[in-house]
Amino acid sequence: MHKDQGKTGAVKGCFTKRHVYVMGCTTLLCFSVGYFWNTSNDIWLDTPTQVSNTMSNHILEDLLQIELPRRCDVLVMTPWFAPIVWEGTYNAEILNEQFRQRNVTVGLTVFAIKKYVIFLKKFLETAETYFMVGHRVNYYIFTDRPEEVPKVELKEGRNVVVLQVQNYPRWQEISMRRMEMINYFSQQQFINEVSYLVCVDVDMRFNDQVGVEILSNLFGTLHPGFYGAERQSFTYERRPASQAYVPRDEGDFYYAGGFFGGTVMEVYKLTKKCHEAIMVDKANGIEAIWQEESHLNKYFVYHKPTKILSPEYLWDDNLGRREILKKRRFLAVPKNHAAIRNK
Ligand code: GAL
Ligand code: MN
Repeated sequence: MHKDQGKTGAVKGCFTKRHVYVMGCTTLLCFSVGYFWNTSNDIWLDTPTQVSNTMSNHILEDLLQIELPRRCDVLVMTPWFAPIVWEGTYNAEILNEQFRQRNVTVGLTVFAIKKYVIFLKKFLETAETYFMVGHRVNYYIFTDRPEEVPKVELKEGRNVVVLQVQNYPRWQEISMRRMEMINYFSQQQFINEVSYLVCVDVDMRFNDQVGVEILSNLFGTLHPGFYGAERQSFTYERRPASQAYVPRDEGDFYYAGGFFGGTVMEVYKLTKKCHEAIMVDKANGIEAIWQEESHLNKYFVYHKPTKILSPEYLWDDNLGRREILKKRRFLAVPKNHAAIRNK
């Protein structure tokens, strides 16, 4: 009897409630991570946006102390553990507080070349309502028509900075040269003025909150035409002669050229690499199928974004089913291509 009591005591001594709890949690975590890697290797790498992701959702809930919607059937984490931002996957209050304390200033770059100046008014007005509300913002407006930049009333801590740049005859060239210009001004100016850069298209309007939840070292956005598509159908550049070439068995997502960003340093590196690749293509007499978007996609294959934005952040009702989204935050403004491009 004495013996038995001793045993029980020893067992009790070894495994306190706390020990059992820690061991339990560790085991659970090991299984979760094991399961996660297993699925990621078997299925995720082939069809990254299509797989049920209950496990990653649970891990995310634990890490961020948030509760995801019960039937969350969208991908919320990449196989390399970068979060994918959808409505309901972050706590705006906590994030706003964190970024307010750091007194972060965000630079929003936008190009209004030639006739595209007509998009500026709506773009800026809606940005004042929805973009980085409560934070410091510099709008960097690249244009060849500075006198046509509209005067829009700005809230405190927000500035418009007009950067006069040259235009080019072809819209494709205008589009691609954005990489060069963002790169040049990152080094000359942005690095001294802002912490993060958000680089977007101008033929757009904000329609719901776009806040600090998007910020990370390097981020890209799922293209609204391909968020649920298989790798084989991604419209990467497929000609090996181009610097933007991506082989059939590589690539995780198809990203939109119209919304990317990160710290000024990361955007500097990205735009440098893309611009250099564009210049090599030019010298070789080839132009990537979707211009700088193709080069951006190539870059993201080998430099994985640390955060990915769902198509909520770049939406076009003509490309996807809007029922899949809880929010359409940044929307394409319909345009008459023939009347606007090259004009
Ligand atoms: C289109 C879009 C283009 C390009 C392309 C990629 O829907 O208008 O700008 O992104 O998808 O396949
Ligand atoms: Mn556009």
